[in-house]
Amino acid sequence: MRAEDPQLVRLADYRPSDFLIDTVDLDVRLDPVATRVTATLKVRPNPDGREGAALVLDGDELKLVSVAIDGVPLDDDAIEAAPERLTLANPPRGPFELTVVTEIDPTANTRLMGLYRSNGAYTTQCEAEGFRRITYFLDRPDVLAVYTTRVEGPKAETPVLLSNGNLVETGDAGDGRHFAVWRDPHPKPSYLFALVAGDLGVVEDRFVTASGRDVALKVFVEHGREDRAAYAMDAIKRSMRWDEEAFGREYDLDVFMVVAVSHFNMGAMENKGLNVFNDKYVLASPETATDGDYANIEAIIAHEYFHNWTGNRITCRDWFQLCLKEGLTVFRDQEFTSDTRSRPVKRIMDARNLRASQFAEDSGPLAHPVRPEAYAEINNFYTPTVYEKGAEVIRMLKVLIGPDAFKAGMDLYFDRHDGEACTIEQFVACFAEVSGRDLGRFMLWYRQAGTPTVEIRTAYDAAAKTFAIEAAQTVPPTPGQPVKQPAVIPMVVGLVGPDGADLPLTVGGAAASPVIELTEPVTRVTFENVAARPVASLFRNFSAPVKVAADLTDDDYLFLAAHDADPFNRWQAGQTVALRNLVARVAALRASRPQPEEPRIADAIGRAFAPDETDHAYAAQVAGLPSEGDVAREIGDEVDPDAIHAARRALKRDLAARLGDAAAAAYERLSETGAYSPDAASAGRRALKIAALDLLAADGAAEGVARAKALYDGATNMTDRIMALQILSLHESDARAAALAAFEADYGDDPLLMDKWLLIQAATPLPATLDRVKALMAGPRFDIRNPNRVRSLVGAFGGNPTQFNRADGAGYAFVAETALVLDRINPQVAARILGAFKTWRALEPGRRARAEDALRGVAAAPGLSPDVGDIARRALG
Ligand code: ARG
Ligand code: ZN
Repeated sequence: MRAEDPQLVRLADYRPSDFLIDTVDLDVRLDPVATRVTATLKVRPNPDGREGAALVLDGDELKLVSVAIDGVPLDDDAIEAAPERLTLANPPRGPFELTVVTEIDPTANTRLMGLYRSNGAYTTQCEAEGFRRITYFLDRPDVLAVYTTRVEGPKAETPVLLSNGNLVETGDAGDGRHFAVWRDPHPKPSYLFALVAGDLGVVEDRFVTASGRDVALKVFVEHGREDRAAYAMDAIKRSMRWDEEAFGREYDLDVFMVVAVSHFNMGAMENKGLNVFNDKYVLASPETATDGDYANIEAIIAHEYFHNWTGNRITCRDWFQLCLKEGLTVFRDQEFTSDTRSRPVKRIMDARNLRASQFAEDSGPLAHPVRPEAYAEINNFYTPTVYEKGAEVIRMLKVLIGPDAFKAGMDLYFDRHDGEACTIEQFVACFAEVSGRDLGRFMLWYRQAGTPTVEIRTAYDAAAKTFAIEAAQTVPPTPGQPVKQPAVIPMVVGLVGPDGADLPLTVGGAAASPVIELTEPVTRVTFENVAARPVASLFRNFSAPVKVAADLTDDDYLFLAAHDADPFNRWQAGQTVALRNLVARVAALRASRPQPEEPRIADAIGRAFAPDETDHAYAAQVAGLPSEGDVAREIGDEVDPDAIHAARRALKRDLAARLGDAAAAAYERLSETGAYSPDAASAGRRALKIAALDLLAADGAAEGVARAKALYDGATNMTDRIMALQILSLHESDARAAALAAFEADYGDDPLLMDKWLLIQAATPLPATLDRVKALMAGPRFDIRNPNRVRSLVGAFGGNPTQFNRADGAGYAFVAETALVLDRINPQVAARILGAFKTWRALEPGRRARAEDALRGVAAAPGLSPDVGDIARRALG
């Protein structure tokens, strides 16, 4: 260990808390700069803890006012008080009442953890370790207590006073102040505590649960934004019903509240009965929100609501188990969206997203297992690996044991562990028990980082009428894990016959399951009675989060793109041919050879624009080419982002030439006339229309740009307007400059719309982008204290393949410098921004050296937060 290495927290070192806290009585007297918090805790030694241990409470930047035990104030030599810790060396051996008074400054809290102010309103964020910024506490998820919270504030500034649970009392506190008392009967860990106070507008509704409980629903927003809360409210009701029907889970309090705040580090937070949301995931109207915004709102409302059972009723024993609630809840929100919208489209979008974010993370220096074994800063583990790969692991479990056993396992989990703080082992044991299977090897998915690669060889024997599939798997080395064991990979297969229909699967003379379990380095299966040479459809429905390298030809994939009964693989097949061509184009560019053409890609992609295509949402996915990031990952090392960009542009130009007429016809056909509706079918129609426009405007083609300008000028909803602006933004033109100026003039006073405007400018491949981003940062639309602004401008720039990766290194230097400035204000967001470097090692040597310089500059800076220090150190490896 080097001297500057911080203390790691290790899973192996877990031990139960020496003390438990049964009840928490909080009295919070709000003041902008000196909020007084009195916490009265019923404490007792934990029978599973160490006898006679000291009581050590966590704190973070706290100012202690007083401590008392059973009403008797403690003098200074009985305690050891520091901003980050309060130690009582000799606490009573039996149960006692501890009263701690602290003073905090919500206005100075720019880290947005603990109690802070956002646009004048008070709000809290406690996950993972924010409660210790409110009062000294055993701030760990396995300490569950019943909370009663009295919130007191000035009537004028804080007419609304909220906390978890049910409202039990309100009253006048004199001096122009009032109070509210909230009681949450469900024992919970401190990270689920919340308090909100401010002058907020509210939208109300109600929901009657399956067993007849009448629940008041309230969505709180800034005054004047009430008309933008309707969709979120509707999504709450649909989520509640769905969880009853799909998982048998009912809501358990008299009120369910959602509050939208404008300063928020993440998407949203599942505090018991009082979900706090980033306002961009609540507020929507056709004039201000895109189809994507509506879809995100619905999914995130569902996600946080579903946490009420997977996270709140059953929580995590420690933060290593984060995927226990996050992977499972992502899985649940994916299922909700699949049932609500289109299942195949959702699967395709999730696979695209997993590859873009998680595969990228898994292939670089920040790779970690779904359940990490050590961390320096837990906030850096709210990652695509924990969330999205965590959801994939559960999906694989369902494929392996089947839907009925999966359902039985979930029911057992809820029955057995309600009210507990659990581990992944306890969760998986439920499925092992109901299925009678040994899931010991399956646990490797939680322990091993890295994306497995499965190499496939197929062989048809016409004489014997057999078709053999050989699958060889490897799991690559990742930081700290040089050697891997074979994973348990469910490979769902189909054999597509010459007429395009699936052939029956026969093995050993009997009907065989389409699920092949790859458990060894090499697995072979031979199908019998195969009358004609089939094409293998592998990993149907993306049955495992792996990379596949199969010996199928482009002809095979083009056949699958036309015929595969599995919609995911029909889409995937077209993507695979396009990706192969893009890789070949990059190689040709770098060797100064002519661009290799594959005209049949136009057949696969062009199917999207066929006049008889009715599933527009699906067709829009078919029409979308692999991203520059997809190509970079496929190439793997010595990546040249400029060559990838040029190759993709060349392919798009080629497709535009071949498909221009079909795309133009589709664009006309799909152009809206009716009123805007955010439903999935209407959104799909718009998405396909935009895909057609994107092709028509490839390379800044004048005719396409004219259409995009017309769409911008005539747009009757924000989806069309933003999509047109985005297409216009890709190439310099008068129309581009005019539309960007018009957008700012029209929407300059709406921060969420300015976020879109910032993002579009930060994400364009134009060489002037970095200068523009710097100018925007200095301008009035930017505010470094607001995470949404930072993510829209700096975060989007960090994801810009060619401009972040400028050959001169200026993009790296800018993101590194910005992360350092931001680190003084909000370390969590600064660490996220630095995540732009997660694939730097895969770059060609020139860029790699410049990226490394920038990272070394960050790592060497004095006074780094644990958040940024941890990312910089791990990225450098
Ligand atoms: N539990 C929240 C969710 O996924 C995320 C909150 C994470 N917050 C943080 N500061 N790391 O729904
Ligand atoms: Zn979550």
